[in-house]
Amino acid sequence: MQTALVTGAARGIGLATTRLFVEHGWRVVMVDRDAPALADAAGQVQAQAICADVAIPEDVARIAAEAGLAAGLDALVNNAGVADFGPIAETGFDRWRRVMDTNLDGVFLMTQALTPALRQARGAIVNIASISGLRASTLRVAYGTSKAAVIQLTRQQAVELGEHGIRANCVCPGPVRTKLAMAVHSQDIIDAYHDAIPLNRYGTEREIAEAITFLCSERASYITGQTLAVDGGFEATGVGLPALRKP
Ligand SMILES: NC(=O)c1ccc[n+]([C@@H]2O[C@H](COP(=O)([O-])OP(=O)(O)OC[C@H]3O[C@@H](n4cnc5c(N)ncnc54)[C@H](O)[C@@H]3O)[C@@H](O)[C@H]2O)c1
Repeated sequence: MQTALVTGAARGIGLATTRLFVEHGWRVVMVDRDAPALADAAGQVQAQAICADVAIPEDVARIAAEAGLAAGLDALVNNAGVADFGPIAETGFDRWRRVMDTNLDGVFLMTQALTPALRQARGAIVNIASISGLRASTLRVAYGTSKAAVIQLTRQQAVELGEHGIRANCVCPGPVRTKLAMAVHSQDIIDAYHDAIPLNRYGTEREIAEAITFLCSERASYITGQTLAVDGGFEATGVGLPALRKP
C-alpha cells in the first residue's frame, strides 16, 4: 500500500485530497494544527492524524517520527496555508511573518524532514502555491510573494532531489470556496474572479485534488519541476475578457 502525508488536511483542499487518496487505496497521514477539526476529519476518512504546526521545527521533527514511515513515503503534499490580504502600508512585519511562517517555511521544513523517507520510496512532492504566486494583484503582498517563493522552492527541490528519484511539482489553484478563501474574498473579489476566469466560475476542492493526486501518482512518473495552474484558464487570460463578454 502506498503512503501519502497531507498537511492542512483537516478541511478544504487538503481534506478533499485525503479523501481521493483513500479512494485510490492509499494510506494517508493527515497533519493539521486545528485539533478538533483534524479529529473530526480523520474520523470521517479513517486516516492517521497528527496534530502539529508545520511552521515549528520541533513539531515537524515529531511529524517525521510519528508518521510511521519505516517503509518510506510515496507522496508529500505540502498544502497547509494561510491567507491574509492587506495593502503594503498595513502589512506589518508580524502579518508578513505569519504568512511566510506557514506558506514558505512550512514547505521548506516539511520537505527537508521527510526527504529521507521520500528517498526510500522514490516518492513525489506536491507543493500547493496559488495563482497569486503567478500573477500579482492588490492586497497580496505577503500571500502572493510567499506563493511565488513556493513555485521557485519546488524547482529547487526538483533539481536537487531528482537524482534520488524524488519528483517535485507545484499546483497553483484558482479560487475555491474554502474557509481560507471566503475569509478574504469580498463580494467584489468574487465578482471580479467570475469575470476574469474563462470558465466563469470558482473551482472545487475535488478538481484541485485530482491534479494533486495525479502528480503524486506513477502516471506522472516523468514529470518534475513543473507548475500546474488549476484555475479555469485564469493564468492564460489577458486584458479585455469581461469587455468582450458584454453583449
Ligand atoms: N481556496 C482557495 O481559493 C485557494 C486558492 C489558491 C491556493 N490555495 C491554497 O490551497 C491550500 C489549502 O487552502 P484551503 O483553501 O483548503 O484552506 P483552508 O483554510 O480551508 O484549509 C487550510 C488548512 O491548513 C491548516 N493549517 C494552516 N496553517 C497550518 C500550519 N502552520 N500547520 C498545520 N496546519 C495548518 C488549517 O488549520 C486548515 O485546516 C493553501 O496553501 C492555500 O494557500 C487556496
